[in-house]
Parts: sequence; C-alpha cells; structure tokens
Amino acid sequence: MIQKRVLFVCLGNICRSPLAEGIFRHKIDAVGLSDQIGADSAGTSGWHEGDLPDPRSIAVARQYGVDLTVQRSRPFRQADFYDFDLILGMDSKNVTTLAGLKPSDATGHVALFMDYAEGRDEPVPDPYYGGDDGFEKVYRQLDGAMEALIARLTTA
Ligand code: 4NP
Repeated sequence: MIQKRVLFVCLGNICRSPLAEGIFRHKIDAVGLSDQIGADSAGTSGWHEGDLPDPRSIAVARQYGVDLTVQRSRPFRQADFYDFDLILGMDSKNVTTLAGLKPSDATGHVALFMDYAEGRDEPVPDPYYGGDDGFEKVYRQLDGAMEALIARLTTA
C-alpha cells in the first residue's frame, strides 16, 4: 500500500521535475519501496501540458539508465494539495507560487526541494535556456540530494 506520496514541481514540468521524478522512482525501485512510496511531477504553468520531457532531460537521464519517456507534462492542480504528502518546488519561485495557491486545510506540505532534502536554501536552477551541460549539472544535483530525501522519508 502506498503510504507516502511525493510531488516534484517546477515551471514547465519538462526539464527539472521530470528528472527529479525519474531519479526518485529509479532509486525507490532499487530499494524495493515502490509499493510504499509514490511519486509524480507537475508544472506551475500548463505551457507544455501533454508534452514529453525536454529531449535534453530524456538524454541525460538515459545515460544513467533512467527512462523519462513514460512521463508527460501536466499542470499542478488544487487536488495535489490533498493527494500528496510532500510537494517539493525546484526553486523559490515555484515554492512562492505553490504557497499562494495553498488552501488553509491542505494536507500536503510544501517545501523547497534542496532545503527539505539537505537543509540547503538553494535552487535547482532552470536549465531550459542554457546548454546541455546545465542538464548534466541538474542531474547530478538531483541525484546527490535524492539520497538524503529518501533517507529522510524512510527514517521518519
Ligand atoms: P522546467 O524548465 O521548469 O524545469 O520544466 C522550463 C521549461 C519550459 C519553460 C521554462 C522552464 N518555458 O519557458 O517554456
């Protein structure tokens, strides 16, 4: 039975949060927890609704054995505040947007991804307008912090 649900949120849900979801699922699968911990991702905008992740995100993930082609972009929706226990924004703008939408009776907890995972008040920078090396950097940042996030979820 799924006991914890985590939602990763960025602006477009094609670059950062799909990578976060893919890496998280891959690691959760590897430790045999996929029937207990669920994950999804969403964008604060609906600009790319229905789209595959950015080809640069798909490519960097594939190099590490993570398949993002099963994912499609979707906008964040109000029900997510109740359907997920933890809602993690990639940067402070994402968190501010989520905080502005959050109803007072929401059951989901909203936080900045790096802060929740590692206690660091740092963004996962948007790589959309940069080169391919930005995607590699984002991958490594997410991959490193994910270990701490999973430790926090499984020991709480
Ligand atoms: P993401 O990156 O928020 O990491 O998915 C972006 C994707 C698309 C746009 C901006 C950022 N855009 O302007 O369309």
